[in-house]
Amino acid sequence: MPTVRVTRRAHFCSAHRLFRDDWSDEQNREVFGDCSNPNWHGHNYVLDVTVEGPVDPETGFVMDLKQIKRAINERVIDDVDHRNLNLEVPWLEGTMASTENFAVAIWDRIASALPEGVRMHRVYLQETPNNSVEYMGPAAG
Ligand code: NI
Repeated sequence: MPTVRVTRRAHFCSAHRLFRDDWSDEQNREVFGDCSNPNWHGHNYVLDVTVEGPVDPETGFVMDLKQIKRAINERVIDDVDHRNLNLEVPWLEGTMASTENFAVAIWDRIASALPEGVRMHRVYLQETPNNSVEYMGPAAG
C-alpha cells in the first residue's frame, strides 16, 4: 500500500511576548528584541500540519481532510486565535511562547487526535514570512 503525506494549512492571529521574569528589561530586549515588547504584539501565523499514512483503498484518502481540519480547529485554532499565548492558552502555560515551543506543543495536540495508522510527519509554523520553524517529532528530531 502506498504511503502518502497530506498537508493541511491553517491561519490564525495571536499575541505574545518573549521575556524572562528573572532577566532585566535590558537583557530581555537584548535577547528577544521586538518580541519582548512589554505591551505585547501580534503575529499572523501560518500553520502546516503534515500527516503520513497508507492510502485507504476504499476512500483513496490517507485521512479525510475534514478530520484533520477539525483536529486543527478544535485542538489548536479555537484555543489560540485572537488570544494571548502567554495568558490565555492553558497548554502553553509555563512555556516560553517562542515559535519553536509552540510548534512542539501543536504537534502533541494534533498527534493525539489522529486515527489509527496515521502518524504526524511535520509541523511547520510561520511566525512571519521571514521566520518559521519546523518540527519533525521526537523520533526524527
Ligand atoms: Ni513575536
